[in-house]
Amino acid sequence: MTNRQMVCVGILVLCILLLLPLTMAAQGQREGRGGGGAPPVNLQILPKDWTRQQVVQVMQGFNMALGVGCNHCHIEMVGAPPNEKGVIPIDAAPDDKQTKKTARVMMRMVGQINETLGNQIGKPASEVVRVQCVTCHRGSAIPKTQ
Ligand code: HEC
Ligand code: HEC
Repeated sequence: MTNRQMVCVGILVLCILLLLPLTMAAQGQREGRGGGGAPPVNLQILPKDWTRQQVVQVMQGFNMALGVGCNHCHIEMVGAPPNEKGVIPIDAAPDDKQTKKTARVMMRMVGQINETLGNQIGKPASEVVRVQCVTCHRGSAIPKTQ
């Protein structure tokens, strides 16, 4: 190998080493939709230091309680192709949908009920049935009874 060739190979190896962390970070972000990945940036009710995974567990409870998909409250990611289930990935941070804002009102309401109910009915907090989304919604986005 000539000196010139060795310099070329050296530069190539350096480039790969420099680019590797960048491509890995980009991949982590892509895989982050719904899974591990990018940490939440717009939590106002759930603890701000929660990981994406912790948040998504609560979100799956919302889906079940209301009988909806993630896109009921979250906008779809612009230009993203559908995943293997045919679902377009969501962009979870923006507050563009009224349903997401309504869900925050609901979270506060439920928190307040659970904090104060025990006192008002003279029962220790540990013995009071905790109100959850499903207590009212039972699989419906709008829990109408008639
Ligand atoms: C009923 C409405 C609703 C549904 C359905 C829902 N979400 Fe959310 N999501 C919210 C609300 C409200 C917040 C903000 C919570 C807060 O402010 O603490 C949020 C926040 C998030 C965040 C954090 C975003 C950030 O950067 O702050 C992620 C990630 C997320 N949701 C993913 C999902 C996934 C995945 C699903 C489906 C499994 C889903 N959500 C279904 C209402 C919903
Ligand atoms: C005390 C009963 C009750 C509980 C508990 C409750 N909700 Fe609701 N929710 C309602 C009612 C009633 C409506 C319909 C309001 C209306 O007429 O638009 C509603 C509407 C909503 C909507 C708007 C749906 C749409 O398509 O417009 C969302 C989103 C929602 N609730 C999320 C939640 C979440 C998330 C929780 C748990 C944190 C929750 N709710 C807990 C009673 C409840």
